[in-house]
Amino acid sequence: MSLATLASATVLFASSFRLAGAVSAQTFEPPSKGPLVQTANYTSFSNHTLHDKSVVKGKVFDRIIQVWLENTDYESAAATPVFEQLAKQGLLFTNYKAVTHPSEPNYVAALGGDFFGMHDDDMYHIPSNISTVIDLLEAKCVTWATYQENMPEDGYYGFTYTAENYGNSSAAPYTYYVRKHNPLIIYDSVSQDAARVKNIRTFNDFANDAVNGTLPQWIFVTPNMINDAHDTTIDFAASFLEYWLLPLLTDKRVNNDRTLILLTFDENETYEIENTIYSLALGGAVPKHLHGTTDDTLYTHYSALSTVQANWGLGSLGRQDTNATVSNVFSFVAQKTGYKNVHVPANKVPQFNLTGVVPGALTSQAFIPFAAPNLKAKGAGGGHVFLRPGLNKALTASSLPPPVNMVALNSTTPWRMSPRTTSGKHIIPCAGSACP
Ligand SMILES: *[C@@H]1O[C@H](CO)[C@@H](O)[C@H](O)[C@H]1NC(C)=O
Ligand SMILES: *[C@@H]1O[C@H](CO)[C@@H](O)[C@H](O)[C@H]1NC(C)=O
Ligand SMILES: *[C@@H]1O[C@H](CO)[C@@H](O)[C@H](O)[C@H]1NC(C)=O
Ligand SMILES: *[C@@H]1O[C@H](CO)[C@@H](O)[C@H](O)[C@H]1NC(C)=O
Ligand SMILES: *[C@@H]1O[C@H](CO)[C@@H](O)[C@H](O)[C@H]1NC(C)=O
Ligand SMILES: *[C@@H]1O[C@H](CO)[C@@H](O)[C@H](O)[C@H]1NC(C)=O
Ligand SMILES: *[C@@H]1O[C@H](CO)[C@@H](O)[C@H](O)[C@H]1NC(C)=O
Ligand SMILES: *[C@@H]1O[C@H](CO)[C@@H](O)[C@H](O)[C@H]1NC(C)=O
Ligand SMILES: *[C@@H]1O[C@H](CO)[C@@H](O)[C@H](O)[C@H]1NC(C)=O
Repeated sequence: MSLATLASATVLFASSFRLAGAVSAQTFEPPSKGPLVQTANYTSFSNHTLHDKSVVKGKVFDRIIQVWLENTDYESAAATPVFEQLAKQGLLFTNYKAVTHPSEPNYVAALGGDFFGMHDDDMYHIPSNISTVIDLLEAKCVTWATYQENMPEDGYYGFTYTAENYGNSSAAPYTYYVRKHNPLIIYDSVSQDAARVKNIRTFNDFANDAVNGTLPQWIFVTPNMINDAHDTTIDFAASFLEYWLLPLLTDKRVNNDRTLILLTFDENETYEIENTIYSLALGGAVPKHLHGTTDDTLYTHYSALSTVQANWGLGSLGRQDTNATVSNVFSFVAQKTGYKNVHVPANKVPQFNLTGVVPGALTSQAFIPFAAPNLKAKGAGGGHVFLRPGLNKALTASSLPPPVNMVALNSTTPWRMSPRTTSGKHIIPCAGSACP
């Protein structure tokens, strides 16, 4: 299939996405008539839009939309035609690292600036005294939401959700939604707050919010388990992007000249090699002269935090978001905000493929309690380190006891939950070893 320039190719793409997926076992089927049309395939319709149309001016962008795909090595994405075409209208980051394996800790890190030792995809919750980027955004009145494809209702707390197979009604029901890809639900500071939990929204809400002109300024998008390549292939995900992202790129309700869209992946597929992921900056806020170019600065998932902090002059989390080695600000944003990135030579790049060896509150193998953030940290936004209610400042990283192997004690981290008891409920019913 030969593709003309993207701007004129939207119509062509719309009719070709079935072909691109046809090579894989599952065939991409559009869940709706279009990305801004609500569908019964998403279990429930949107009950309300967001209401706040206020726009807090950023230094480079007024909206950021992060779209997270799954488990793909850099080269695989880069060699896929849709990504090649998209790269022509964006800035490709060639040295962007996930921070660990497997999925869930990467999502957790992208919100809270650390993965706290987590090295599996189990059901966790993180206590409400641990801050996230949501605290930083709200402190400056920047609006935010996450949109989770096939999550059955707003703020759904369950571990997974299985629905009728919309691609094949005679096939068995399919688990389209998983909590491990929804970082906002994992943090109690968001999911246990009656006002905030409403911003954990469905894809039907995305359509409703966009059509009503009330899409917020910070947006985290998780496609379902087939569309994000997790259960399928990169070609399948490419077909999803043709259906969902491409039309939105030319829709002013979603993307205008003050919008940054970060298309990225949670982690590299192959654990034995460096954890480089394909990440592309798209949207009207990417300067035109950078379209079709690459940037080899070392970035990680923490860079998405520091970039947002720099853009809106926010405070910081005082965690890895303020660790200069791993949190370079996207260069075109750093230049406009005066942040000085660090150059990390290839032989000094930290290993991000380590798993199961980092102590923390979310591992049973090497458990240590949550530490308070580093109160002296300086973040890219210049503001101070955010402290949530209930935080014990005396619990500094250096004051914590040595790691304990809870497994050897037949115990587990207190922040691990039993998925069996939590389906659909919004309030934490039990925690850790107290779970039946
Ligand atoms: C659900 O998805 C299937 C597969 O693409 C499609 O045929 C059907 O029209 C969709 N339903 C609705 C209500 O959009
Ligand atoms: C659209 O947003 C406005 C506020 O900007 C709100 O008053 C209205 O109810 C919303 N419309 C719908 C259909 O929810
Ligand atoms: C995963 O990342 C490494 C480091 O950049 C890269 O060399 C490797 O090719 C990637 N995996 C694949 C199979 O593309
Ligand atoms: C809308 O409200 C109904 C009834 O309470 C609920 O079943 C449905 O899940 C809600 N939709 C969303 C997107 O939360
Ligand atoms: C739909 O699912 C049924 C049951 O698994 C299977 O036999 C059939 O081949 C599938 N159809 C397509 C078009 O994949
Ligand atoms: C991580 O990748 C490096 C190569 O970059 C390799 O030498 C090392 O064995 C990998 N570590 C693990 C735990 O797979
Ligand atoms: C900063 O990141 C590097 C690379 O991951 C790591 O070695 C170092 O310990 C980190 N510093 C702090 C204070 O966490
Ligand atoms: C955070 O809150 C939890 C639960 O109340 C508490 O056990 C822990 O000590 C607190 N940690 C810090 C760093 O304040
Ligand atoms: C852990 O459980 C095993 C099997 O039930 C038991 O043999 C062992 O003594 C227990 N260890 C501790 C430290 O309680």
